[in-house]
Amino acid sequence: MFPRDFAWGAATSAYQIEGGWQADGKGPSIWDTFCHEKRGVHGGQNGDVSCNSYELWEKDLECIQQLGLTHYRLSLSWARLLPDGTTRNVNRRGVQYYNRVIDDLLACNVSPMVTLYHFDLPQAIQDLGGWKSPGVATLFDSYAKFCFQTFGDRVKLWITINEPHVCAKLGHEDGIHAPGLKEKGTAAYLVGHNMLRAHASAWHSYDSAYRATQKGAVSLALNSDWLEPLDPGCREDVESAERDLAFTLGWFAWPVFVTGDYPEIMRSAVETQSKALGYRGDFRLPTFSKDDPPILGTADFFALNNYTSRKVKSGGCGEQTLSMKRDLDAEELLDPSWPICGVSWLAVVPHGLRKLLKYIKDVFNNPAIYITENGFAQVGPLQTEDVERCNFYKSTILEVAKAIEEDGVDVRGYFAWSLMDNFEWADGFSVRFGLFHVDFSDAELRRTIYRSGREYAKIISEYKSRRLT
Ligand code: GAL
Repeated sequence: MFPRDFAWGAATSAYQIEGGWQADGKGPSIWDTFCHEKRGVHGGQNGDVSCNSYELWEKDLECIQQLGLTHYRLSLSWARLLPDGTTRNVNRRGVQYYNRVIDDLLACNVSPMVTLYHFDLPQAIQDLGGWKSPGVATLFDSYAKFCFQTFGDRVKLWITINEPHVCAKLGHEDGIHAPGLKEKGTAAYLVGHNMLRAHASAWHSYDSAYRATQKGAVSLALNSDWLEPLDPGCREDVESAERDLAFTLGWFAWPVFVTGDYPEIMRSAVETQSKALGYRGDFRLPTFSKDDPPILGTADFFALNNYTSRKVKSGGCGEQTLSMKRDLDAEELLDPSWPICGVSWLAVVPHGLRKLLKYIKDVFNNPAIYITENGFAQVGPLQTEDVERCNFYKSTILEVAKAIEEDGVDVRGYFAWSLMDNFEWADGFSVRFGLFHVDFSDAELRRTIYRSGREYAKIISEYKSRRLT
């Protein structure tokens, strides 16, 4: 059911697993600051140590081998490589660490997929205005070029930025992620814009200076729930679901894959709400400048992070002042028939992923798609025999197979989130997404495979053996 060279992977990110927050010359990132300033992370926890992958990498590699992964998605810590965010000051120990990780993976026949930015901006760049400042795009481009130059002889799959939607909205509108800003209805659009500019600059740098020799592929990872109208017979609900998809996935995918600009429904919604509150229509969602590298076409594949689904109903936001919620003017609901897994936002809807894959095929010109994150959370008492998570993976992978076989979607790979339990952002260590359990109370941070890890390994080995026949 899966193509011969299908990528079977698992994913992690630097801040969530590495620890070593100031080891060997690493600079601080906005997540170090956010956690240390106790800005709302569960239990005042932080990623200072987490899984300590900075020192225990060989343990992670054992987990990767035990699962039989063909691919492993990791992120680089910008501030570990460039402590002040600029290439003026390179931390050689950081370079050594990632060289070792990449070399070890390749020696075990595992291909790395490397994310340049997974939520952890160097604090030094935040101090210059962070993602709100237009200059961040140039700094990101220099960092990206440094990484292509240093690691690109061995890394063939690159993600520039992970989930610009989450960084922009949770970090700058809702304030529940670093840097903790709550500048409603304005900052997130600016941040998203600069992230797109940064991504496009890096893609163009790769295209012009590295692609010919390194022969890799570059994209950005976009998150979206599957969003469908509460009442498919109600025009307002249908339009609201379309608008919601435009504000989530389309915000970034439309410029990159379709037109080089934001979706028209998003532009007009933001304009309408600006005018309704007495502002100029064009004052919030920026326009792409001719001086910037073009955005359209700056992805060699579609990288999708998907966890869940929502039903969408029109109106009902009731916000009186500027906000993204007011712009969206729609309400997201859970279908009571969907089981909730652990965290309140994570309804288990495997068929939603299939629908979203088909939607991406139809709307974004049938791209090659990697599912770069998908997973199931556990909270409360530890269950190593995690039968529900096993069922989740089995039914989700079946839906992916149907998308490939029956809907003709070009899916190239699937990365489970996550290799092991780790620091789950604002939820700290209270939410566990791992295929391996990590005992955070144990000095050695022992990793133990969950039943779901064994199940995933079994699925992978079945497909690998079919590939040989
Ligand atoms: C994504 C994020 C991951 C992980 C996951 C589970 O938004 O990229 O880092 O935390 O959610 O919530």
